[in-house]
Amino acid sequence: MASSPFISETEPWKDLRVHVDDIKKTHLRELMSDADRCQSMMVEFDGMLLDYSRQCATLDTLKKLYNLAGVAHLKEKINRMFNGERINTTENRSVLHIALRAPRDSVVNSDGKNVVPDVWQVLDKIKDFSERVRSGVWIGATGKVLKDVIAIGIGGSFLGPLFVHTALQTDPEATEFASGRQLRFLANVDPIDVARNIAGLNPETTLVVVVSKTFTTAETMLNARTLREWISAALGPQAVSKHMVAVSTNLTLVEKFGIDPNNAFAFWDWVGGRYSVCSAVGVLPLSLQYGFDVVEKFLKGASSIDQHFHSAPFEQNLPVLLGLLSVWNVSFLGYPARLTTFKQNFIQVSMESNGKGVSIDGVPLPYETGEIDFGEPGTNGQHSFYQLIHQGRVIPCDFIGVVKSQQPVYLKGEVVSNHDELMSNFFAQPDALAYGKTPEQLLNENVPHHLITHKTFSGNRPSVSLLLPSLHAYNIGQLLAIYEHRVAVEGFIWGINSFDQWGVELGKSLATRVRTQLNASRKKGEPVEGFNFSTATVLTRYLEASAD
Ligand code: F6P
Repeated sequence: MASSPFISETEPWKDLRVHVDDIKKTHLRELMSDADRCQSMMVEFDGMLLDYSRQCATLDTLKKLYNLAGVAHLKEKINRMFNGERINTTENRSVLHIALRAPRDSVVNSDGKNVVPDVWQVLDKIKDFSERVRSGVWIGATGKVLKDVIAIGIGGSFLGPLFVHTALQTDPEATEFASGRQLRFLANVDPIDVARNIAGLNPETTLVVVVSKTFTTAETMLNARTLREWISAALGPQAVSKHMVAVSTNLTLVEKFGIDPNNAFAFWDWVGGRYSVCSAVGVLPLSLQYGFDVVEKFLKGASSIDQHFHSAPFEQNLPVLLGLLSVWNVSFLGYPARLTTFKQNFIQVSMESNGKGVSIDGVPLPYETGEIDFGEPGTNGQHSFYQLIHQGRVIPCDFIGVVKSQQPVYLKGEVVSNHDELMSNFFAQPDALAYGKTPEQLLNENVPHHLITHKTFSGNRPSVSLLLPSLHAYNIGQLLAIYEHRVAVEGFIWGINSFDQWGVELGKSLATRVRTQLNASRKKGEPVEGFNFSTATVLTRYLEASAD
């Protein structure tokens, strides 16, 4: 265990700690009145505009954060990632999701080998396979076209693809290629989810894609066996080869499961599960639904951010700025949560990456890391939990908006469109949070005295706003990569390993123990043993009651 000084022991960290007192004295109302400051806190890149002027920060704060980035060796760490060094030290792996979307002629080395040709070999295979399925060249066992896809997978083998699919399924530039097709995701092991997934689908016209990096994840493998049975029962066991394909790094287990390795799409151990949407994990199911060309635009968007992240100066670098501001909010201002309007895979990318208790060298940290991310798209959250954000706890917010809606609605005779209405809230909420409402304002509005405190908003609640020109595949790729790299920046500053996930193992191994007990009790009537009193009692009750 190497000893490295914690970032919290460095001068820039201590300087920022002292700086907190100055910032806490200055309300966002005051900060927002300085137009030059606001102008300096807006960054444009490739059609996107990031406005971070509503952060409880001054230009001086930013300078101090750049100093912190300096002592954290942020630039060097980013370079080490792009150079394919094994920065995921606990798993002895490089972290190269950027290679998954690198242009065909680029070079990204892992262990001295350019991995880009391997990436494109799989992409070409996906393009070919998805075109054959979509055009009806690859057909089901009974000769029918496979128009529906169920992608089985969980965690990173589900949330990234779900995020992209959710965004594309209303984009006319994508849906024009999806006509008559359905893509569904089966993640949870609850039999209810299986029932919902297969409801209305015909095995004859369904292709099942089993997505699992390890091909050992209990939930995914059980769901895969369930759907294999669904296909076999309807069409015979020989139909499985026509109706099931796989995405994995473990092609041996894919074959053992009964899927022809020729129908398996590989990826590599240098792709973390939660960073895998740009591998076959996302590209295969999404190409089956929308066609490869649409998905390629998504990859290009992500790649444009990779290049930006790698080369733009910190002052102009969207992921770096967002990452540094997150560290500022969490570690200095003491705001551990974050509201985000796009939550599906970002919650996993952020919380599985940065919820760590030890440094990359395995030394317990003297400060807390990670954020609690949550959110809802659009104005849904406003009618639910925003009350707490406005008058309860301070929770920094990310607002993401688009200039052009995928589906604009113009009601006859109305000037403000449906999308304008949505965006009115996008513009209003950050100011409401920043400025709040004072008792004086309320008195001027003749609010009765007994309601003044109830209706007062203290404001001074930070947010960032990101305005995108539109939401097509390319922009979705940009958004994904910005958030992936932001999380990396946070981890690099905190000095942790953002690319392992040992914290999810304990629950998994305890579930295995319970599963073994269920088996032993049901098969051989063995009593429940080796658990604490509470678990043993409830487990026994479950076994007895479910035996009826
Ligand atoms: O839950 C932990 C985890 O290992 C995630 O990191 C991963 O995305 C998920 O499980 C699924 O793993 P796999 O793709 O190997 O089935």
